[in-house]
Amino acid sequence: MDNRPIGFFDSGLGGLTAVRALRRILPDENIIYFGDTARMPYGSRPTDMLRKMARQDLDFVASRDAKCILAACGTVSSTAPDVLAAYPVRTFDVLSSTVREAAKHPARSIGVIATAACIASGAFQKALASACPGAEIAAVACPAFVPLIESGHYDPDDEALRAAVAEYLAPLREKGVEALILGCTHYGLIEAAIRRYLGEGPYMIEAAACAARELADWLKREKLCGGRGEERFCTSGSAEDFTRFSAVFLGRAPRGEVAHVPEMEV
Ligand code: DGL
Repeated sequence: MDNRPIGFFDSGLGGLTAVRALRRILPDENIIYFGDTARMPYGSRPTDMLRKMARQDLDFVASRDAKCILAACGTVSSTAPDVLAAYPVRTFDVLSSTVREAAKHPARSIGVIATAACIASGAFQKALASACPGAEIAAVACPAFVPLIESGHYDPDDEALRAAVAEYLAPLREKGVEALILGCTHYGLIEAAIRRYLGEGPYMIEAAACAARELADWLKREKLCGGRGEERFCTSGSAEDFTRFSAVFLGRAPRGEVAHVPEMEV
């Protein structure tokens, strides 16, 4: 038993989809979450910079006594896997768990949508090609999604969101992909809009949920579960906005404080 919190970090609200998934399995875990909103979006930054930011984010949550850390960000998971693997605290990423999940559901064609930096890294494409041999992989960068979601455009009826979804996903709908990977943790927040556009056809694999499941399995196996459901949220952006939006995505007000922390220099 270990009552220390699980650490999560992301460029903003997206990692909340991993918190939500984890809470469904282990509701009593304590959580420390860092949303680096001031430096969002990560997905348009160069790899060198992302690797340094990954290290800073890890240090931030580790300094809050995290027993393990989930890099709840597809962009970091795809551009800095070695930084995560070498970290002295046990880390989890959202890429490898997602690809393992995809391999369990054989599909002739798999779509993967993620940020520009994530798709440009080729990490999902490479891992899927080896885990799902024979499947055709269609990877699409969706750079407008994260800024839209962070500015409150997440409702499936939202016009700007609907236009962006149609623009990015048209080739995948045309192709009739059998499975779709939401390779950016923010995309779980617009799953309804994506589903509405693509229809019930494709099997949807949400990166955040896959990683949360693997983390929970590990905690159980290692007998490291423990906590009282406490949560601390830190954001480098506006604490007020974070509180408002996190309540929408968690389905309730955040338990405990949402603190503003200064933006880190990279
Ligand atoms: N949630 C992050 C990811 O999974 C978003 C990155 C961004 O800020 O562009 O990639």
